[in-house]
Amino acid sequence: ILVMTVVATPAALPPPDKLPSVAEFPDVLAMRDGTKITSKKDWEEKRRPELKELFQHYMYGRYPHLTEPVKVVVTEKVLFEDTQALGGAGTLREVEVSFSESQWPKIYLLIATPNGKVPAACFVGPNFGGNHLLTSHEKVRIPTAWVPANYPGVEKGTNKATAAGRGKQASTWPLQQIVEKGYAVATFYCGDIQPDRPDVREGMRATLPVYKGDAPLDETATVMWWAWGCHRAVDFLVTDKSIDAKRLAVVGHSRLGKTALLAGAFDDRIAVVIPHQSGCGGAGPSRSKNEKAETVKRITTAFPHWFCGHFRAFGSDTTKIPFDQHALVAICAPRPVLLTNAEDDQWANPSGQFDVLTAAAPAYKLYGDTKPVADKMPEQGKLSDDRLGYFIRAGKHSMTPDDWKAFTQFADKWLK
Ligand code: GCU
Repeated sequence: ILVMTVVATPAALPPPDKLPSVAEFPDVLAMRDGTKITSKKDWEEKRRPELKELFQHYMYGRYPHLTEPVKVVVTEKVLFEDTQALGGAGTLREVEVSFSESQWPKIYLLIATPNGKVPAACFVGPNFGGNHLLTSHEKVRIPTAWVPANYPGVEKGTNKATAAGRGKQASTWPLQQIVEKGYAVATFYCGDIQPDRPDVREGMRATLPVYKGDAPLDETATVMWWAWGCHRAVDFLVTDKSIDAKRLAVVGHSRLGKTALLAGAFDDRIAVVIPHQSGCGGAGPSRSKNEKAETVKRITTAFPHWFCGHFRAFGSDTTKIPFDQHALVAICAPRPVLLTNAEDDQWANPSGQFDVLTAAAPAYKLYGDTKPVADKMPEQGKLSDDRLGYFIRAGKHSMTPDDWKAFTQFADKWLK
């Protein structure tokens, strides 16, 4: 179905400590050599590719399998299909997606589509603990890959998911609510692509070479693997006749929100990008003014595998990072991006995320949107549905049916 042939050119970029210090967000329209971008053409041909290279080199690691072009062919097998699921409102099925490289792990896409309303716009994204947590439907597969110990129904000591977890996190991806709004939704367990733990050559990381000493400082890191996994889910969705290939929105929560933003930036087939409470390493700025927010030093210490080795090196001095997260949003231009947050989740830096949106706006203006973002952060509970959209609700770090109301409301504007 998909053949990837792009070859990345390894750039001669200085090590992190040799980069110039810039206190504020670097100008998204200024090339590294100082040239100012003023047209859409130069943005697309010069600055956008430069930024994609910088994000790979210094933060997320290389986009997988582009340097030695691997032919990725995706095939699918339907594991079950129930046309009268979700209170009769939708069809639920699970599709096994496998790759031409037979040793690569498979992903299992749980897909809900609204009956009588297809082809439908579709939300797609990874989930934290397995599809079975999102519905009590008995046919849904239980993951066999490593799962984090703190998820419902996980066997003590073995990190194995069990049927006891069925439906225990159904409110995080409220399938019925979504199909009742006329949307399809597709999700997969992130750990099938890459289990969320460091230093183990498992999942897709097992396809990388093993080094005697340290791995290269730009080696593909876990957030990049998860984003790559989203793209492979998209490979399938764009071929499926119940899905409208032109109307896909990527969604993810927290570490998977970081993933959603990266996935949107690196795949133009994704029409709308919704990183939820993504925080540091996602839509939260590295140069943060919010003292309650997570820092680069902290995240690269606590979760060393999410980002590449170069990013860790910035830890104590984020002024040397040659971009900030506004540039990752800008790569998505002109596609709509919605940043969603919660008041009690200062760790994810809600106000810093609004600054990121504002700083991304110049790239969107190149596409003719003269006012892509609100003048100030909208008040709690009120969706700002500008092209660079924003939403903050009361409450804590979680993904809830109320958040999904904001997601579908935003989609009603941009995907209808
Ligand atoms: C931790 C981490 C965050 C992350 C979050 C999550 O809190 O510090 O960066 O977003 O986990 O994924 O839930």
